[in-house]
Amino acid sequence: MDWWNDADALLERSWECMVRAAEDGTAHRFAALATIGAEGPEARTVALRAADRKARTLSFTADILSRKIPQLRADPRAELLFWFPDETLQVRARGRALIREGPEAEHAWRRVPNASRLNFGGHPATGRAISGPDAFSKFPERDRFAAIDLLVDAVDMVALRADGHRRALWRADSGRVAWLAP
Ligand SMILES: Cc1cc2nc3c(=O)[nH]c(=O)nc-3n(C[C@H](O)[C@H](O)[C@H](O)COP(=O)(O)O)c2cc1C
Repeated sequence: MDWWNDADALLERSWECMVRAAEDGTAHRFAALATIGAEGPEARTVALRAADRKARTLSFTADILSRKIPQLRADPRAELLFWFPDETLQVRARGRALIREGPEAEHAWRRVPNASRLNFGGHPATGRAISGPDAFSKFPERDRFAAIDLLVDAVDMVALRADGHRRALWRADSGRVAWLAP
């Protein structure tokens, strides 16, 4: 498929990149997650854990005490931003976050390697002031683990080439991909 001149193919290519990024464990799975905070927008890196084309979900995990969780509870609208250098392709996936915790997050928790479980727990929690660079302790706390699924309702794609760029937008409400000026 010529994804460069076919808007539907560009959308499929974007999903392929996200699925591959989640599965291959390389740096391409690191995305910027933008949320809406009380004082304005906030963005931070998260690792994409799964991408499901059919369900149109993008999944990541987080410590319940990190700021993104109360922000997403207050306003579930969020965006994940990816840059795929091999395709020179930027993908912005917008949607609504569904937060799973407790028993609902058990399946995802089982997939977290022991060493990584330290990222969910510890004292004080991430972002809190400490008296020096190492004045904290990390220990896994199952109750602090959340698995988040972003239900994607729009994908904005920008692909770069020296001879002319491409931009297209897919929206769930229309189910269509439309070209935009790049
Ligand atoms: C490479 C990298 C990967 C990260 N992956 C995650 C992640 O998957 N989930 C997460 O909550 N934080 C992750 N972080 C930490 C966040 O970027 C952020 O510092 C932390 O979650 C606190 O953010 P918040 O208080 O704004 O929610 C990662 C940071 C880096 C540098």
